[in-house]
Amino acid sequence: MNKQEYKQAVEKLNLWAYHYYVLDDPIMTDEEYDKLYKEVEEYEAAHHGDILKDSPTQRVGDVVSEGFVKAKHLSRMWSLEDIFNAQELQKWLEKAYRLDKNITFYCEPKYDGASLNLIYENGELQQGITRGDGTVGELITQNVKTIKTVPLSIEHKELIEIRGEVVIFKDEFEKINKERLKNGEPPFANPRNAAAGSLRQLDPSITAKRNLVFLPYGVGINTLPHKLLSDKMAYIYDLGFRKPPLRAVTKGYDEIEAMYERMKEERESYPMMLDGMVVKVNEIAAQIDMGYTVKVPRWAVAYKFPAVEKITRVKDIILQVGRTGVVTPVAIVEPTEIEGAVVERATLHNFDEIERMDIRIGDKVIILRSGDVIPKIVKVLVHERNGSEVKVERPKNCPVCGSELLQEDVLIKCQNLTCEARVVNSIIYFASKQCLNIDGLGNKIVEQLFNVGLVKSVLDLFDLNMEKLLQLEGFKEKKARNLLNAIERAKGCELWRFINALGIEHIGEVASKMITEAFGLGYLHVTQEQLIAIDGIGEEMAESYLEFMRVNEETVVKLQEILQPVPPSKREEAKENPFKGKTVVLTGTMSEPRPLIKEKLEALGAKVSGSVSKKTDYLIYGEDAGSKYDKAVSLGVITLNEEEMKNLL
Ligand code: IVH
Repeated sequence: MNKQEYKQAVEKLNLWAYHYYVLDDPIMTDEEYDKLYKEVEEYEAAHHGDILKDSPTQRVGDVVSEGFVKAKHLSRMWSLEDIFNAQELQKWLEKAYRLDKNITFYCEPKYDGASLNLIYENGELQQGITRGDGTVGELITQNVKTIKTVPLSIEHKELIEIRGEVVIFKDEFEKINKERLKNGEPPFANPRNAAAGSLRQLDPSITAKRNLVFLPYGVGINTLPHKLLSDKMAYIYDLGFRKPPLRAVTKGYDEIEAMYERMKEERESYPMMLDGMVVKVNEIAAQIDMGYTVKVPRWAVAYKFPAVEKITRVKDIILQVGRTGVVTPVAIVEPTEIEGAVVERATLHNFDEIERMDIRIGDKVIILRSGDVIPKIVKVLVHERNGSEVKVERPKNCPVCGSELLQEDVLIKCQNLTCEARVVNSIIYFASKQCLNIDGLGNKIVEQLFNVGLVKSVLDLFDLNMEKLLQLEGFKEKKARNLLNAIERAKGCELWRFINALGIEHIGEVASKMITEAFGLGYLHVTQEQLIAIDGIGEEMAESYLEFMRVNEETVVKLQEILQPVPPSKREEAKENPFKGKTVVLTGTMSEPRPLIKEKLEALGAKVSGSVSKKTDYLIYGEDAGSKYDKAVSLGVITLNEEEMKNLL
């Protein structure tokens, strides 16, 4: 293959992929594609300098990042107002018509996935950013490049932000979950979680395997001349993006309703999940007139589909004991597919609820799943009973530790602080996303660690080592190393996560943030008056907090020593220093946890980035620095060890 042939081969592969992934209309066999792909790979291996940016081989990077860097959207990403029925549509239309009588409406699916902003400059994909809070998201360009329906380059050369939803098709979702179950991993609850989770993998090769699909729904910053949204979108699709399964410009109420009914009917047959239809004013000038509220555009609305109901049978009613000791009944139902997710359990809330609805084991029931809420039983089909159904009694003793249960209002509680279920669930909670976010420490692993006696309290997590983990079934060196690293990364966490992770009753994420904002590292010795003085903290919360700290002071202090949580910094303008305004990358093992050093550098006004590029000003390296160090040296970036960094200050 010569250079010319190489260029043609890349073009051909891209055209093939476009037909396959975007148009859903393959024009080649897999073998042909694979063969040409291999040839391209071989050519590139021998001619590094010739590699084209839009070569399909450039989609999968091999750089695993250590965390995502935040990035600003060029223009704000908005949310949508939801409506649920025809009256609400009527009302919204009246308001819209009040501003302009001659408008039409662009209707398209509301996809259920994760939103993504793509920034193209000079026709090249520069950045892929998650929605985040709408202003700032996470930079996930490497992962985005693995999505085959995201063109790496486009014909449009001016700066443009293309927004859309990243989804997982229903069949792919089932495949992934089967695979996960086989590997002993927890299945994803629904395609949306699967898409969002896959998008935020630190290792892009995992994202690449998930077959994500990008579906554009709009633009941010752009110089497009079109006066109609429908024309703008047609232009976007022509640039190489995938079209929605159904879209239309409609004139008014009747046409919108008809379109809504059609999409609702047809959606079962679409490959992706929809949770409604989005109605957008089609005239850009009218959109500008209508403008935005603080959160949503006035010119668009999400017309949600009704929640889906299915009939299934209650196989069993089990009791779960949570970390606070509350015993919750859960119905185990015959596995039922609802909108791409397999439902096997439904919450029953409490025993009053079971008695009120008279739910029995063996009953046929209607379950409802709407959006991301846990499915619930809405109706018992009493007339379908045959007499074999079994009532469940209110438990008197804890199903796990056997101790007597206490009835507190509608709740039934296990009072035993050392009850195994309570301990295991507190550890799971401690490691969960909204707390210390320790990857790989989910239900199964915590139970395993507890059952073999390696971890009897959260403190024991920090005594784990390679030798101990390798004793466990299913643990090989890599899995053990990953877990140990994940635990290590929790060090230097934000102080609110630390407080939240303690699992104090009535003190959740919001309260933890308020407490850390108010007291910083002085959180341990505060008074009732000081706590109640915080807006949003009531007497019950304050009492719960103080009681917890009184009883557990020793453990909390030990945990703090280990974790070194970082209080919220009072972000003042940093004084002049060598790192102010500089882009810094950290690598290797340092004398303190890296997040702590990152925090300090940020307080000095530095931007700490995850990867080395020409824009990097300093690379600060610890022991065992690897590829980042080499890259920095090759790019001529200044490298400093920890001591040199301190000397500079
Ligand atoms: S438009 C300016 N269109 O829904 C309006 N959003 O609930 C911004 N979404 O954050 C959104 N399908 O992630 C729009 N066809 C569609 C959509 C869509 C899914 C998501 C999007 C947005 C969320 C708002």
